[in-house]
Amino acid sequence: MRAGRSNWSLVWLITKRLRVRIPPPQQIRLKMCMREIVIESPEEKKLRAEVAARTDADGMRMSRFLGMPDLSRTEGNPIAEIVTRILASPYFGDLDIITTPEIVPASVSFDLFDFPADHPARSRSDTYYINDEHILRTHTTVMWYYYLQDEEVRARIAANKPVGCFSFGKVYRRDEIDRNHMNVFHQIDGWYLAPKAVKTIGVKELEESLGAIATAVFGPDVKYRLNEDTFPYTHPSREMEVQIKDKWVEVVGCGVVKGSVLEKLGVDSSNYTGWAFGFGLERLAIVSMNLPDIRLLWSKDPRVTRQLKLGNEFKEVSKFPPITRDISFVVGNDFVPNDYFDCIRDLGDDLVEEVSLLDKYENKEKFGEGKTSYTYRIVYRSNERTLTVEEINPIQEKIIEETKEKFHAEVR
Ligand code: PHE
Repeated sequence: MRAGRSNWSLVWLITKRLRVRIPPPQQIRLKMCMREIVIESPEEKKLRAEVAARTDADGMRMSRFLGMPDLSRTEGNPIAEIVTRILASPYFGDLDIITTPEIVPASVSFDLFDFPADHPARSRSDTYYINDEHILRTHTTVMWYYYLQDEEVRARIAANKPVGCFSFGKVYRRDEIDRNHMNVFHQIDGWYLAPKAVKTIGVKELEESLGAIATAVFGPDVKYRLNEDTFPYTHPSREMEVQIKDKWVEVVGCGVVKGSVLEKLGVDSSNYTGWAFGFGLERLAIVSMNLPDIRLLWSKDPRVTRQLKLGNEFKEVSKFPPITRDISFVVGNDFVPNDYFDCIRDLGDDLVEEVSLLDKYENKEKFGEGKTSYTYRIVYRSNERTLTVEEINPIQEKIIEETKEKFHAEVR
C-alpha cells in the first residue's frame, strides 16, 4: 500500500476541507485515489432538529453534546494534529476518508456488528438513546456500514479491487467523571479490505498496519506491543500498547474483520478479508503532553492553547483551587450511577472536575430492604478562574434537590 508520489493539489484540498495542519511536504505522500466521502443523512437531520426542540433534561443534554465543536476538525488542536499525522502516514496512502452521521440506528450499531443481545453497550446506562431506535454513535467503527453503501466503493468491490478508509470525529458514551474521561470524545477508525487475488489478510497484515499507526503518531523510535483482546466484530482481536516514559499505555483496539459481519454488510467473506482498528484520540493527546485534565483540550484560554502541541510537556497554568462538596443519600437498588453523573454534569457543566465514590453500603436494619447508601465527593474546579462558594453553593443545592426528586433519594 505504499504510496508512489505526492499529489499536491489533493494535499491542498484535504488541508482546506479538514482545516487541519499537514506536516512538512517531504513527509506527505498521498495517493491519487484518496477520496473524501460525506454521508448525508436526512434521517439524522430530522432527528437533530427534534432533539434541538426538546426541553427535557435528556434532550437538552444530548443537544448540548451534539453542538460541541469537533476537535478533530479544529485547526491547531492536538486532536486534529494526531489525525493529520495518521492520514499522512505513507502506509495508509490510498485509503479514503469518510464522514458519517453522529446519530445512528441502534440496529446498525449493534445488530450488524454482532453485539450479543446482553452486551452492556446496548444498555441505556452506557449509551445515549435519542429514541427507542436511535443512539448517539458510541464509536467511529460504525463507518463500516456507511462506507459499504457508497456506490463507488461497491463498484470497486464488484471489480474485485481492495477498498478501505478512515473515519474520525466525535463519539458519545455515558461514563464516570474524572480528569481523564469525558462523555464526549473523539476517535479515529481505519480499515482495509482486499480480495483474495490481492491478499488474504490475517494477523501479520494487522500487525503491520498497527506498526504504521504507532510510528505515525509517536515517531520511528516508538516501542509498542500487542495483546489479545476481544471485540464483537473482529477476530482475532488485539490491543496495542505503546511505551511512554517507562509506562505501557493501551491505545488502540483492532482486529481481523469478522466474516459474519462482512456478510451482513453485503461483502462476500469467502473472497474479501480485512484489518480494522479504532481508538480514542484524547488519551494519546493527554499522554503526549502530560495533560493534567482532559477539559484543557477544549480550553479557549490562550495560556493553555499556546501550549497544546503534541510532544510539548504541559506546564500547569496556575492551578486554581478546588471547592469540594460531599453528598450522602440512600436510594433504591435500581439507582444508575451513570444517570447521576449526567445529572451532576448538567448542573455543574465543565466546573465539575471529578465525582468519586467515597462509600457505598447496604444496611437492612437501618435503611430497609433493597436500599443502598452512597457517598460521593464532587470536586469543582475551573481551569480559568478561582471559583467562589457563592457560585458553587447554588449548584450544589440544585444537585441535592435533583437527588431527592429525580432519584427518589433520601439525602442524609
Ligand atoms: N471500536 C473499538 C473501540 O471503540 C475499536 C476497534 C475498532 C476494535 C475496529 C476493532 C476494530 O474501542
